[in-house]
Amino acid sequence: MNSLKSINYTIHCGSSTLLELNAFLQSKAYSSIFILCDSNTLEHCLPLVLNLCPIFKKAEVLEVEPGESSKSLDIAAHIWQTLLDCKADKKTVIINLGGGVVSDLGGFVASLYKRGIDFINVPTSLLAMADACVGGKNGINFGDIKNSIGTITQPQGVFIYPDFLLTLSQRHINNGMAEIYKMGLIVDAVFWNKIGDVKQAISAENYIYKSVSLKNIIVKQDPLENGSRKALNFGHTIGHAIETTLLNTPNELLHGEAIIVGMIAEGWLSWKKKLLPKAELTKIIAIFSKKYVLQKIAETHFDTILAATTHDKKNQKKEIRCVLLNGIGQVKTDCVVTSELIKKALIFYNSIVKPK
Ligand SMILES: NC(=O)c1ccc[n+]([C@@H]2O[C@H](COP(=O)([O-])OP(=O)(O)OC[C@H]3O[C@@H](n4cnc5c(N)ncnc54)[C@H](O)[C@@H]3O)[C@@H](O)[C@H]2O)c1
Repeated sequence: MNSLKSINYTIHCGSSTLLELNAFLQSKAYSSIFILCDSNTLEHCLPLVLNLCPIFKKAEVLEVEPGESSKSLDIAAHIWQTLLDCKADKKTVIINLGGGVVSDLGGFVASLYKRGIDFINVPTSLLAMADACVGGKNGINFGDIKNSIGTITQPQGVFIYPDFLLTLSQRHINNGMAEIYKMGLIVDAVFWNKIGDVKQAISAENYIYKSVSLKNIIVKQDPLENGSRKALNFGHTIGHAIETTLLNTPNELLHGEAIIVGMIAEGWLSWKKKLLPKAELTKIIAIFSKKYVLQKIAETHFDTILAATTHDKKNQKKEIRCVLLNGIGQVKTDCVVTSELIKKALIFYNSIVKPK
């Protein structure tokens, strides 16, 4: 059992976290408890939680459809209406039991309902355990732009129970690994070398704990992303633009899968700007090519992807600003890149994708 202090809350990780969650809720004496799930976490995770946390016998369950489409204003409004109908007051807590979609949505709903009620993240996917559950970023997709509306509001606690991963598909495990790779690349070269080495056996719990610890250090230093927290966006300028562009198309990518493409493309930009040695870029590509089935990005999408990069939250004065690797384990933030260079990075990415 491990625990970490974050910004006014504790992150618990390990096999006894659900018991700790029960004790935590008992100590808080909330007037009502709502558990937000999607239909998969309702089926696979909620029974375990109900079994181990007697306090949830009195809880109301809110269910949404799995997937990105639930991070919408319509779904948020529906939950707000349900909370009002149930007369949920300021001493209500929302438990986000799910992946990053549930925690982003539930955190957003809670941060605005009655000007803010408590919420707790109980992540169930690898991506949410290793990354999304910590740092307080929440939000919805709006106007066809990912995460364009949201707040930075910290949860009251994070309870990571790695056994939830037993029912998660391999595709979603690989999806979560993307953010773990990113953590190594941006701040910890030793960790990157360890996770890149397929012969090293590291337990999921150790991966998660290490990744969350590294993220926690960064977000504690810069909770509102005015400076050093921008490091977490490596791979995300191009990755988010690709994710947004392919959303609801037959080639739709999961968040982590899009970030893998973004990290290869932005790794190339890092090399092009003489920040990353060629050998390191080659190693990144080799590791990602082994782990993921990389797909070419159709050139017909390039213009939409380039347009989407102009909406990135890191941009300033209409300039596209990327986070690039400054060697392995370090980053350089606010690197100005042109659309032409991003297009070249996409062409480079396509050139390394092996034909099926
Ligand atoms: N707030 C942040 O800091 C942050 C960071 C990274 C990503 N994100 C966001 O997170 C989202 C992606 O998160 P995700 O990959 O967890 O997606 P997700 O929430 O859609 O979960 C992935 C899939 O796995 C299912 N699932 C989850 N846990 C399960 C379990 N234990 N057993 C069986 N099925 C399970 C879900 O129902 C879903 O179908 C994106 O919207 C992204 O923008 C947020």
